[in-house]
Amino acid sequence: MAPGRTSLLLTQFIILIILEITNGFTQKFQEVLRGKYDLKDAMRQQLGGKFQIGINDPHSDTGEYPPRIVEVKPFYMDIYPVTVAQFLSYKIKKPKYKTTANNAGYSFVFSNVVPPNIKTKWASEAADSWWLAVRGAQWDRPEGPGTNITDRLDYPVVHVSYMDAKAYCMWAGKRLPTEEEWEYAARGQLKGVQYPWGDKFQRGRMNYFQGRFPNNDKGTDGWIGLSPVNAFGAQNNHSGMFDMLGNVWEWTSTRYYVRVVDRKSQALKYVLKGGSYLDSRDGTFNHVVRTANRMGMVPHYTAHNVGFRCAASAPHLVQKMRRSDPRFKPPAETSTRRPPKLHKRRDDPRTKKYIKVEL
Ligand SMILES: *[C@@H]1O[C@H](CO)[C@@H](O)[C@H](O)[C@H]1NC(C)=O
Ligand SMILES: *[C@@H]1O[C@H](CO)[C@@H](O)[C@H](O)[C@H]1NC(C)=O
Repeated sequence: MAPGRTSLLLTQFIILIILEITNGFTQKFQEVLRGKYDLKDAMRQQLGGKFQIGINDPHSDTGEYPPRIVEVKPFYMDIYPVTVAQFLSYKIKKPKYKTTANNAGYSFVFSNVVPPNIKTKWASEAADSWWLAVRGAQWDRPEGPGTNITDRLDYPVVHVSYMDAKAYCMWAGKRLPTEEEWEYAARGQLKGVQYPWGDKFQRGRMNYFQGRFPNNDKGTDGWIGLSPVNAFGAQNNHSGMFDMLGNVWEWTSTRYYVRVVDRKSQALKYVLKGGSYLDSRDGTFNHVVRTANRMGMVPHYTAHNVGFRCAASAPHLVQKMRRSDPRFKPPAETSTRRPPKLHKRRDDPRTKKYIKVEL
C-alpha cells in the first residue's frame, strides 16, 4: 500500500474516533441538560422494586383481580396530572400540533357540566345518556365553544387522547408511565390497601361523585365536576403523589386486554387508571374509585374526565441501587400455585413478571 493512502486511512480513522467521542459527549451533555431541565420540581423519585399490584376482589372483572407481585425499576413520576397551564406551554411551543379532539371536531362531555346554550346548539347524545358529543369541545374549550381555560390553569388538562398524552410527555423529555409504575407511585409503601392513603375510605382526599348519579351531584367534596390538581392534599405521603385517585382518569402506556377473548382479535386499547369525578366510592354507578381499578380505552378516545401524567426512567438510579440496596435482589422463583380458573392468565402480558399470588 502506498504511504499516502495509509495516512489517508489513518486520518479517516482518527476523524471517526473524534466523531465517536464528541457524539458520546453530546449525548451525555443532553442527558444532563434533560435531567436538569425536565426532571424539575414537579416530579418525585420512586425507588421501585417488587410490590403487589391489583386487589383481592374476585367479583371484579376489570383485570385488577387477582393481586400479584410485579417489579418496577426506579423511575420519576409527575406529582400532579399535567395541567392546562403545562399543556398551554406545549401548544405555544408547538403551535402546529393538533390534538385528536381538534382533528375530530368534537369530544365527550358530561351533560350536566355543559351550559344549556351549548347543549342545544352543539351537542348530540352519546350512547350513554349522560355523555354528550360536543362539537368543538377540546382542551382549551372544555365544555364546548365559548367556554375557556382562563380560570382553569391549575386544572388537569382534559380531552386529550393517548396520542396527545404521548406527544406531550415526549416533548417534555418524559414518557407515559406503565400501569405498574402508576400503581407503584399511587401505593407508596402501603401494601395491599384500597387507597393511596390506606385501606379505609376517607372524606376530603379526592374528587369523586357524591349524590345520586347523574342528575344530583351534591359536591360534598367541595367540587362539582373537575377540580385543580392540588385541591386535596397528597394522597400518599411516602410517594408524595397528588390527585392519583379521582378528578380525571389517567392514560398509561400499558395495553389493555380482555382476558377471555383471543388477544389478536382485540381492538387496540390502553389502560386508564385512577377514576374520575364521575365515578363512585362503591361502584353503585360507573366505576369504583380505588388504586387497583382500571379501564381500557381506544387511543383516540377523548373526554372531559380523561387526562394524564408523565413519568421518566431513572437508569442512573438502577445502577446505584444495584450496588447499595439489599432490596434490589433478582426476582424470586415463580410460584407453582395456580390462579383461579375464572381468570385465565395465559394471555396476560404481566404473566411474565408473575411471581406469586397472595389470596
Ligand atoms: C371565560 O370563562 C369565564 C367563565 O368560566 C367567563 O367569566 C369569562 O368571561 C370567559 N372569558 C372569555 C375571554 O371568554
Ligand atoms: C400524611 O401527611 C398529612 C399532611 O402532612 C398528615 O396530616 C398525615 O397524618 C400523614 N399521614 C401519615 C399516615 O403519615
